[in-house]
Order: sequence, then C-alpha cells, then structure tokens
Amino acid sequence: MKEERGEECYNQAMVKRHKRSASQGVEMEICINSDDMETEEGGGESEEDENGFNLFHYLAQPSAFVVCDALEPDFPIIYVNSVFESATGYRAEEVLGRNCRFLQFRDPRAQRRHPLVDPTAVSEIRQCVENGAEFQGELLNFRKDGTPVLNRLRVIPIYDGSMVTHFIGIQVFSETDLDLSSLSYPVFRKENPEILPRKMDIKIPICNYHEGGLLERDADNSRILQLSDEVLAHNILSRLTPRDVASIGSVCTRMRQITKNEHLRRVVCQNAWGRDMTVRLEPSTRQLGWGRLARELTTLEAATWKKFTVGGRVEPSRCNFSACAVGNRLVLFGGEGVDMQPMDDTFVLNLDVASPEWHRVKVASAPPGRWGHTISSLNGSWLVVFGGCGRNGPLNDAFVLDLDAQQPSWQELATSSEGGTGTRPLPRSWHSSCTIDNGSKLVVSGGCTDTGALLNDTFLLDLTKERPMWREICTSWAPPSRLGHTLSVYDNNKIMMFGGLAKSGSLSLRSCDAYMMDLEEIEPRWRQLGFNGFEGAGPPPRLDHVAVSLPCGRILVFGGSIAGLHSPVQLFLLNPVEDKPAWQLLNVPGPAPKFAWGHSTCVVGGTRILVLGGHTGEEWILNELHELCLASRPDEDG
Ligand SMILES: Cc1cc2nc3c(=O)[nH]c(=O)nc-3n(C[C@H](O)[C@H](O)[C@H](O)COP(=O)(O)O)c2cc1C
Repeated sequence: MKEERGEECYNQAMVKRHKRSASQGVEMEICINSDDMETEEGGGESEEDENGFNLFHYLAQPSAFVVCDALEPDFPIIYVNSVFESATGYRAEEVLGRNCRFLQFRDPRAQRRHPLVDPTAVSEIRQCVENGAEFQGELLNFRKDGTPVLNRLRVIPIYDGSMVTHFIGIQVFSETDLDLSSLSYPVFRKENPEILPRKMDIKIPICNYHEGGLLERDADNSRILQLSDEVLAHNILSRLTPRDVASIGSVCTRMRQITKNEHLRRVVCQNAWGRDMTVRLEPSTRQLGWGRLARELTTLEAATWKKFTVGGRVEPSRCNFSACAVGNRLVLFGGEGVDMQPMDDTFVLNLDVASPEWHRVKVASAPPGRWGHTISSLNGSWLVVFGGCGRNGPLNDAFVLDLDAQQPSWQELATSSEGGTGTRPLPRSWHSSCTIDNGSKLVVSGGCTDTGALLNDTFLLDLTKERPMWREICTSWAPPSRLGHTLSVYDNNKIMMFGGLAKSGSLSLRSCDAYMMDLEEIEPRWRQLGFNGFEGAGPPPRLDHVAVSLPCGRILVFGGSIAGLHSPVQLFLLNPVEDKPAWQLLNVPGPAPKFAWGHSTCVVGGTRILVLGGHTGEEWILNELHELCLASRPDEDG
C-alpha cells in the first residue's frame, strides 16, 4: 500500500527544486524520489541562513519528509517516507489523507492542539501555506505514543507555473525533556505582558468534593478547565462586561462544581438537542456521563471506524434494500433479488445481544415486494415503508409495522386518496425520505417515475392523524428534480436536501448542492445554502450517499457514488444552522468501509452509524458491518 502510494506520489510529484546556496554559489538540487533525502551537490559545510537555520542540517542526515497535495482541501498528506514513520510512530496508512496538524495533538484522537504548541508558529505556517510561501521554524510535536518531540520544520511550496500543486515538509525531530505536567509555555506573546497577566503562573486554591466533604488543593485553572488561557481570555472573558468578569472571578470554583452536576448536564443537553435525542443517548451516558458524551459529540474527538461480523442470514441475497434502526435493532426490508426480483421480507438484527444475528421477522402480511424504496422509523417501535419499484413498476403506497406487536403485521396506510382530501405522491423509486417532529411525520421528496422522469416535489404525511393525509408542500421555487439525494432533519422541523442525480436544464448531473426548508414556517420555502470557504472544499458531487443528522444539529455526509477519484468514505460535516455554513473534513481513524450507500446505513442510539454490506459496488455482504462510532464505549475499547 505504502509502496503504491510512494510510486503514485513519485509519478505525480517528482519534485525537483533548485536553490542557490548563499555561501557557496553552487546549484543544489533536492530530489524527492526515494525514502531518504539526498544532496547531489554542495553538502558538508555547516552554514546558517539569515534565520539561524542550517540548511545543510536538513540534508546531511536522512530526514523525515512528507508531501502534501495543495490542490485538495486542507492539504492532505499523499506521501510520507519511512524516516517520518519511525520518527513519529505513525504508519503511512494512518496519516495519508490527513493534514499534518495531527502532530500537534498529544492524543491521536484529540481534536485540540496541545496547549504547549506555540500558536504563533502555527499561525505562521498557516499564513505561509495560504500564501504559497516557504516556512522554516521550530515547534513542538507529539509522537503517536504521546511523547513530545521538537520539530525543526521546513515547508516548501512546489509551483507549476503560478499555481502551487504540492508542499514538501521536511522535519528534523529531536528529543525534548519538556515537563508536560507543568504548563509553562506563555500563551500570550511576551511583548504584550500588559494586555493580560499570565494566569498559569498564579496558583489558586481549588475546592473539590471529596467523599462528601471539601478538599482544598493547589491547581492551576487551565488544567481544571482544560482550556488555554488564550481561549478563556479572548473567546470568553473578553466578551463579558467588567461586572460579569468580576462575578466570574469570585465564583468560579463554585461554578465548576455546579457544572459538574450530571443532572444539570443532562438538562443542558436536552435543551440543546431535544428530549427525543436525549432519551436515545441515555444508554451511552451510563459509562461516559453527560459531560464527556456532550464533549465527544461536539468535538468528534473520539470518532472511530470499527468493523465487526454478525451471524444469521439475509436470504435470498439481494441489493438495493432499505434499512433503518429502531432503538438498538436494525430492520431491513425488501430489496432487489436475483433477476431483479422485488423482495418483500423483513429482517431484524438486535445489537443489544452479545452475538447479534440476522433473523427473518414472521409477519402476518407483507407489502408487495420492492426495491429503491425508503424505510423510516417512527415513534417507538414503528416503521414506515414508502414507494419503490415493484413487480409492475414504481409504487406510491405506504405501509407501517409495529415491531414490538405480538404478531407483527405490515398494514397499508389508508391515506387521503381513499376518500379524504389531499394528493397522494406519484408512484416513484429512488426518492428520499426522513421523519420530522420527533418521528411523527414522514417527508418524501423527488425520485423517479416509471417513465424515468425525475421529480422535484415534496410531500408530507402526518402519521399522528387517525386517517393520515398526504399534503404536498407547494413552494414557489424548488431545487432541480433529482433522485438518489438525501433528506436530513435538523432542529426537529428543518430539512436539508443534499446531492443526488439532479436535472438542471437538459442535463442530468451529480449534484453537491444543499438546500434547506423550515417546515414550521406558514409558507415553507426552499433555500439554497451558500457556503463559506473556497470552491471544492465541500463533498464532491454524489448520489446514493449517506447523510446523518448528529445530535448537535450538524449533518455528516459520506459515501455514495462519486465521479472521479475521490474517496467515498471521506467524512464531511456541516452545520446548516450557521449563516454561511462551511464544510469540514473529518479525519477518523480505523477500518472505514470501501463503499457506503444511503438506504443501507442506520443510526443506532444516536452515536453509532452502521453501514451494511457494500464490499464492492455490486456485492452486498450483510454479515460484515462497519460502524462509525461517534462516542467512545469504554466497555468495548479494552
Ligand atoms: C507539507 C507540510 C508539512 C507540515 N508538517 C508539519 C509537521 O511536521 N508538524 C506540524 O505540527 N505541522 C506541520 N504542518 C503544518 C500543518 O499542516 C498546518 O498547516 C498548520 O498547523 C497550520 O494550519 P492550522 O492552523 O489549520 O492547523 C505542515 C504543513 C505542510 C503543508
């Protein structure tokens, strides 16, 4: 793998850089075409440049080096040499695709750089990289095992004409005997001591509850709050009134104790994420506590991919089925069997048991077989199936099932078209659905008709009514017609549409556009989300992908069918609530699946995203599951 990448990198970035040595006036050529750095000419002498850097120091010994792709968002590493691997403890496959900043994090899973890493050096690198300029400097880094190491770093931009295509990073690592237990790095620049005092030097007495009593001990406040003085002062305290700052200063110890209260933390999460989500998350907090879970879901610092095998069988084999989670159970319905046979069976995988196995559910009656349909979970143990392609073409029927009923039975919903008012959606497949309002209403949008025409309509089915009624959400403007897109719900009643095979004008194209609609508005309307950040920073256009709503209202997009050479399991995160949302690329360790498709991905318990099957684009292996764990599970992490 590494060799392949090395080859690829060599071909892509056979980088030769000419630099004139100030002292010797000779042309020095650095060839990056092997694992080690070589000087072809001009080695030997120990000359320092105007910055006190010894250029030859980099070249006299085998150096660690990395190559980053400057044309991809966030400059992912595309090559590391073996010296880098042995100096940092990270293997190439663990770092390829990531930005180098992970070396500033002490815990490989942390999301925040260590407070001892000089923020000035980091911002200098950032500026150099943004401006396509060279950087030389020294900063603190961490090996994979958490030991600190001093990095004399040089970052060199590689130009193709006026465009920077790659960056080369050359690292000379040396040991440091820094005492990490005492945070002594001045987070405020020395030249501005009058702006703010260095709180870290001030020892304050801290009270801790200890077996019912109060225990006094010395500790510095940064360690308690796990925020740097810079963040506390600039991002929090400086925004308050002088009176509030004085109040906080006098009560902070008590505040800390109050904020550690589990009940308060649960209430805070419930206010922010809603009751339903809080109930769903409750089991995860038994070991983690609300504070830690809230932090992990906010920073996603503990996110990891895992792979596991389950027993039982889903037979006959199939593809294009639909699945969703009901509590900790996965439910799979229908799909396309051999010779495009539409399937009508229901399977359940209970993840609560020690060795989960697929079981076929004995149902008294089943909907007609279908594929390209959607299945969504409603309140409690109910499920709803809508549309899809049956034996005689696309369908527009809806069926519900109570999984916990003594004798589970799919029942067709007698909807408005059988005597009431309202319009039933046209028969369709490859549409998208989600449930809003705590799982009480089904929203259906787009898809494709029997003639292959793409749709751009949106319908709502209120399942709280005795006789559920379809209502078309008529809007003055709608996004271009599409199929294979996703609908995600956030803020309880807002929906976001992303991607799909969209029809704009006479063209059918994969889309990477996002649209939102607030279904609580009296006259809901679609709005296209305008993004912050440069072109290409978001997920590449795709269809049949996955979009998952996270507890904090953010939406995670991955998988699907993507044009070009992009990795389908790159994870993109968006907060649609922001004025100008910006996509963020998430680097998650662990064995990611090669493929992930929307209708075969379920969210269990709010923190576990399960991807079923999809070894190759055609093969659907239902006994091997990939899981994107958003929060740590101490019982399983060993
Ligand atoms: C080619 C290259 C190599 C880099 N090598 C390192 C490194 O070894 N250690 C490190 O801490 N940062 C390194 N960086 C810097 C980070 O990737 C990043 O640019 C820096 O942290 C500033 O950006 P940020 O504020 O978004 O983190 C390197 C950057 C580039 C482009």
